[in-house]
Amino acid sequence: MNNLTPRKIVGELDKYIIGQQSAKKAVAIALRNRWRRQMLSGDLKDEILPKNILMIGPTGVGKTEIARRLAKLAQAPFIKVEASKFTEVGYVGRDVESMIRDLTGLALNMVKTEQMEKVQEKAQALAEEKILNLLLPPPRSQRKISISNSSELGDEDKHNYNETREKLRTQLRNGKLDNRYIDLEVREKVVPFGVISNIGMDELEINLKEMLGNFLPEKAKKKKVKIPEALLIIKQEEANKLIDMDKVVREAIERTEQNGIIFIDEIDKIVARGSSYGPDVSREGVQRDLLPIVEGSTVSTKHGPVKTDHILFIAAGAFSAAKPSDLIPELQGRFPIRAELDALGKDEFLRILLEPKNALIKQYTALIETEGVNIKFTDDSIEEIASTAALVNEKTENIGARRLHTILEKLLEDISFDAPERKDGDMKIDAMYVKDKLNDIIKDEDLSRYIL
Ligand SMILES: Nc1ncnc2c1ncn2[C@@H]1O[C@H](COP(=O)(O)OP(=O)(O)OP(=O)(O)O)[C@@H](O)[C@H]1O
Ligand SMILES: [Mg+2]
Repeated sequence: MNNLTPRKIVGELDKYIIGQQSAKKAVAIALRNRWRRQMLSGDLKDEILPKNILMIGPTGVGKTEIARRLAKLAQAPFIKVEASKFTEVGYVGRDVESMIRDLTGLALNMVKTEQMEKVQEKAQALAEEKILNLLLPPPRSQRKISISNSSELGDEDKHNYNETREKLRTQLRNGKLDNRYIDLEVREKVVPFGVISNIGMDELEINLKEMLGNFLPEKAKKKKVKIPEALLIIKQEEANKLIDMDKVVREAIERTEQNGIIFIDEIDKIVARGSSYGPDVSREGVQRDLLPIVEGSTVSTKHGPVKTDHILFIAAGAFSAAKPSDLIPELQGRFPIRAELDALGKDEFLRILLEPKNALIKQYTALIETEGVNIKFTDDSIEEIASTAALVNEKTENIGARRLHTILEKLLEDISFDAPERKDGDMKIDAMYVKDKLNDIIKDEDLSRYIL
């Protein structure tokens, strides 16, 4: 984080997102400010609150992408939620506090994974011993040694036993035992049949299972598994025993509070439209529910209370029908940084096709290459794809860079289908080919509405 200056952050984002410099700059500064705050101590540190960001721009121009890449960079707990999915407290649906609970859960997994990583070696060693015990149970009397001290087992037997065990260990490590099965006792939480499985709502089911998790009876079950799998299972169990869950929870909460980032997508969808009846009441209700969370309050989660004061919120919306000023004033004020994203045109498309690390042309080329066919896009073909995308966006609906996906899919449909049977390894795609494949569709506006 130390070296992650705003300029570097923008540089990293540039690898994936074309243009949109002002939005990149805004998020880079926000991220850097969190680090700056960490450097402070005392009262001031608590006083400095994050400046939340509102990204405004048409669909498909990189809003979500920027947020996603940012979170990766920050290695911070990050979730993306859709504002339109929430309902006012008291209505059926998800209440806004659930985003904090989700974020905490995510941070918990993050910290736990890190801790598990740290105890890997130890857990591996323990698991190996356990497997060896299962394969070659230690002689009774030897186990008694520590208690009674009077060994009935002669030195020679002990020596033999140890020798066999070491031989087995070598075999185990060399994978010689990979095809053998052993009986393993696994503990499973028993979900009372019929109570939960009939509800059919995934989320509810998961929540219930989570809630009931600690109360469900555990059943030990014998299972036949291959040794490598058994090793994994035992290793997991041992690792779980080795980590200090209290510490994990504490750190997870700390991380959520200090570094958490919540991306609220589609915020324009919770704008009430004019009159105040019908579902609009509930939308404004969602905005009101959001206020305390964005401003800073304490949300209780199953891991403990979580303060939201320092969580960074990035909201985004196309705001085509509504304006940011249609949000309730209190909420507007809580997103002081406004970043506007530009609509994309042919020039941007050209770059999006080629430049990002995960550029679409690279993706498709690599996919087809797995079939032994090398497709080569000529410069004029890329040019043609970009201008087609821009044209279709203009003539039908502007869906931004997503148009490139639909166009490429259509363009490569035949190649994709035939690739496994093609014997000649190379294939050139030029402007003619692009025109040939797409012209008929583009000419017919109605057809393009359906296909592209
Ligand atoms: N400026 C850009 N540079 C590179 N790729 C982009 C850019 N804008 C959009 N894309 C690509 O287009 C797709 C859609 O972008 P994204 O999800 O960021 O749209 P969005 O702005 O969040 O739209 P919406 O308002 O519909 O949520 C993604 O695959 C993304 O990688
Ligand atoms: Mg989006």
